Parts: sequence; C-alpha cells; structure tokens
Amino acid sequence: MILLSPSILAADFACLGDYMRLADAAGTDMFHVDVMDGMFVPNISFGIPIMESVRKITHTPIDVHLMIVRPERYIREFARVGADIITVHYEACDDINAAAALIHECGCKAGISIKPGTDTSVLEPFLDEYDLFLIMTVEPGFGGQKYMNKCTAKISALRAMLNERGLESYIEVDGGITRDNVDTVLDAGANVIVMGSSVFNGDIRDNVAYFKKYFAEYKGDVV
Ligand code: DX5
Ligand code: ZN
Repeated sequence: MILLSPSILAADFACLGDYMRLADAAGTDMFHVDVMDGMFVPNISFGIPIMESVRKITHTPIDVHLMIVRPERYIREFARVGADIITVHYEACDDINAAAALIHECGCKAGISIKPGTDTSVLEPFLDEYDLFLIMTVEPGFGGQKYMNKCTAKISALRAMLNERGLESYIEVDGGITRDNVDTVLDAGANVIVMGSSVFNGDIRDNVAYFKKYFAEYKGDVV
C-alpha cells in the first residue's frame, strides 16, 4: 500500500481548512504536519494551536514531523491534541529508544527521521522500535526545495535492511517529490510519500486524485 501524506506547510494558512477539505474530498491518506522550532531547523512553522484546529476538521490520520530540539518534551502534547504518527529526528533526540517507547505509550505510531547527511546505518539499532522511517530528501526547514538525488540510495539501503529483518515498516520520504520523480522513490522502496508543493500548488483535488490513482496503478514492488 502506498500512502499520500500532503504537507500542510505548503498550504496558504489563510485557507488551510478549505484546502484540507479539498484534499480529504479527493481521498488523501494522511496529512503531514511540519513542526519547526527555529533551532533544529532555521525556520519556525507552527505548533499545538494549529494542530488542535486541524484535528477538529478532519478524521484523516495526522502525521506529525517534529523538527525541534529535544522532541521528547512535546510528544505527550501532540498525542493529546490528536496526532496519529509522531516522528522525531535521530539528530535531535537524547534517547532514541525512550522516544519510541513514549510515543507508543501515548497511543501513537512512532517515526524516526534522518537528515540527508545522516547515514542510514544509524537506524540499524532501532528497526524493531519504530513503525515508520522518514528519509529526508531535502535539508529540513522549508518546502518547495529540489529533491536531493543522493538520498535515493538511502531509501534502497533502508528497505534492504528492513527486508533482511522481515520487517514491513513504512519508509516515508519527504521533500521535493513531484510527478516527475515519484517513481524514483517508489522504485527505491518508499511507501509513504510526503508532498507539499506538488499537492497544494495548483488544483488540490486534481493533484491528490492524480497521485492516488498513480499509486493504485503502480506496477513495482510495494510493501
Ligand atoms: C521540510 C518538510 C517537508 C516539506 C515538503 O522540512 O519536512 O515536509 O514541507 O514540502 P515539498 O513537498 O514542497 O518539498
Ligand atoms: Zn516534513
């Protein structure tokens, strides 16, 4: 199953609710909520108040991507306001195992993300602890960037590591994914596709419908 997770960071916040309803109407699988603190990444996005507002207008699973220092501090809060998946960054956590345990204790699926410059091998000790592995395909902090081709090999390497363990965990990719390069990440083994600009720029319903149809008809190996 390949899942689409539109990043609301790319939506015009003055119309966020309307735009999410359009994506929902077209059948998006999730929404990706990019939380940035201006410390871990050089940008500030939004936090709990926005999460509370978006939770009220959709039953679709919400995939929270914490690009903040010491994310353990906010896991309970984001779970409380309705996150379904909480993803922390390997580079930001003091105790990776403890973060997974806390996310699960809060009733959410646990994700761990690595930046483009972090090697996939660092995830080896945590393959059984996390439900989702987020391979950043841009430097975290901003939407609308170009896909970093060097990250493709990281997706394949991670899928091989998971296959070796007989794990069918999600591999999520995030940043610069478009209609032109989505095959590259699918062929490498990704099965949760974050898209900000490719969904919220232009006709939202048409963009979501396009990718949902594309994923349903994709002929490659899918976990
Ligand atoms: C970047 C975020 C991404 C970004 C995706 O730090 O984690 O989710 O918003 O936006 P696009 O698809 O436009 O690159
Ligand atoms: Zn993200």
